[in-house]
Amino acid sequence: MSKVEIHGYAIVSDNDCIADASGRTPEVLRNDADWAYFHAELNKSAVTVLGRAGHEANPNPKGRLRMILSSSSTGLERRTDGWWWNPEDLPWAEAIRVVLPAGGRVAVPGGRRVFDLFLAVGYEAFHLTRAEGTFVSNGVPVFSDCNDDTRAEAVLSAHGLRPGSRRILDPKGPVSLTIWRNGHQDS
Ligand SMILES: NC(=O)c1ccc[n+]([C@@H]2O[C@H](COP(=O)([O-])OP(=O)(O)OC[C@H]3O[C@@H](n4cnc5c(N)ncnc54)[C@H](OP(=O)(O)O)[C@@H]3O)[C@@H](O)[C@H]2O)c1
Repeated sequence: MSKVEIHGYAIVSDNDCIADASGRTPEVLRNDADWAYFHAELNKSAVTVLGRAGHEANPNPKGRLRMILSSSSTGLERRTDGWWWNPEDLPWAEAIRVVLPAGGRVAVPGGRRVFDLFLAVGYEAFHLTRAEGTFVSNGVPVFSDCNDDTRAEAVLSAHGLRPGSRRILDPKGPVSLTIWRNGHQDS
């Protein structure tokens, strides 16, 4: 099979949260520069793989190909709004072979269970944006393994990813981006 490259994208608070206690994205994690960066990256991707809640919350005006994780799907189903996939029923390797027979780049924008699943599958890169100086109380962490003693960076490192240099997306905050890559140091 042709190569499939999985890229994860998250904006997190200083305490590694992607959402607040109610499961919604708080204002402190909304940033125009990060949004623009993320959408430029989507333009380079062949498919976006995301959880059902994210799919329902984010319209898809450009009609980008989506693969939606849901327990409501039986294996892999083509619906009008994309491919619906239940990883319990069909392994990733088989599902993506159907969705991208020629291979290509896969964008993964979460949420947490989706980020967790692809840690096990293997990211080629994880684009970790941090809204520096922000704290989300009792929020949803980017990975289940994050806690006060285990930062997102430690989780990425434990899965064989290595950081590139820190880049400022927005001097306000600042909001910074570090791309973690599988096994090498370049950003
Ligand atoms: N800051 C960030 O970068 C970032 C990134 C992502 C999301 N968020 C925020 O986080 C919130 C949404 O995240 P979320 O975690 O609640 O929602 P989500 O991941 O978008 O969707 C959750 C749903 O996806 C399905 N799903 C996920 N993993 C699955 C698996 N392994 N097997 C089967 N189904 C699976 C389930 O659907 P069914 O119920 O149909 O089974 C689950 O209820 C939103 O506020 C969003 O904006 C922030």
